[in-house]
Amino acid sequence: MKFFVDTGDFKEIEELSDTGLLDGVTTNPSLVAKSGRDFKELIADICKVVAGPVSAEVAATDFDGMMREGERLAKIADNVVVKVPLTFDGLKACRHLSSAGIPVNVTLCFSPNQALLAAKVGAAYISPFVGRLDDINLEGMELIQNIRTIYDNYAFSTEILAASIRSPNHVTQAALAGADVATIPPAVIRKLADHPLTTVGLANFVKDWKATGQSIL
Ligand code: G3P
Repeated sequence: MKFFVDTGDFKEIEELSDTGLLDGVTTNPSLVAKSGRDFKELIADICKVVAGPVSAEVAATDFDGMMREGERLAKIADNVVVKVPLTFDGLKACRHLSSAGIPVNVTLCFSPNQALLAAKVGAAYISPFVGRLDDINLEGMELIQNIRTIYDNYAFSTEILAASIRSPNHVTQAALAGADVATIPPAVIRKLADHPLTTVGLANFVKDWKATGQSIL
């Protein structure tokens, strides 16, 4: 499963890209607002440090506006993926942008039928929001499983990008469900390496090594 980081925090992206764990980046208007940065400059900066796909979301909600903004965003760098909302206008924009060779991430997906539509219009990625379904007492991960089955039934090449990931358990469950990608907040990526037995085990190794009085160098 590929790892994208879901953030508009450039410093975090730089740090995480250094680990080699990062396959791409997703942003959304809320994350850009939180960053306080100029949107197009931020995307340009991110594309300089991350070679993988970088999702940049349109702000318009009508077809013509999404097309104009999508084409503008795609010009920022070769690895920009244009993100559009899962509405009829968004699906139409997805079809047109994809046909013009611009990869599209269709976002705000909450049902298997929505995911089916996105695949039919040639989306490069579909973004089902796991955490927001959990928030309203539904099974977010069931959506990932259902989309996986549907896409496999018809050999759709649209990648399932598990979004609204809130915990390490979401990451495990997304991987078990066969998501192609999980887009994960920086804090959750960092937590993935944690295990209490690793912490205790390492503390003991450090203590025992010190007792030998040796040095490797
Ligand atoms: O980028 C879309 C998605 O990952 C947002 O997550 O936590 O705001 O539901 P969240």
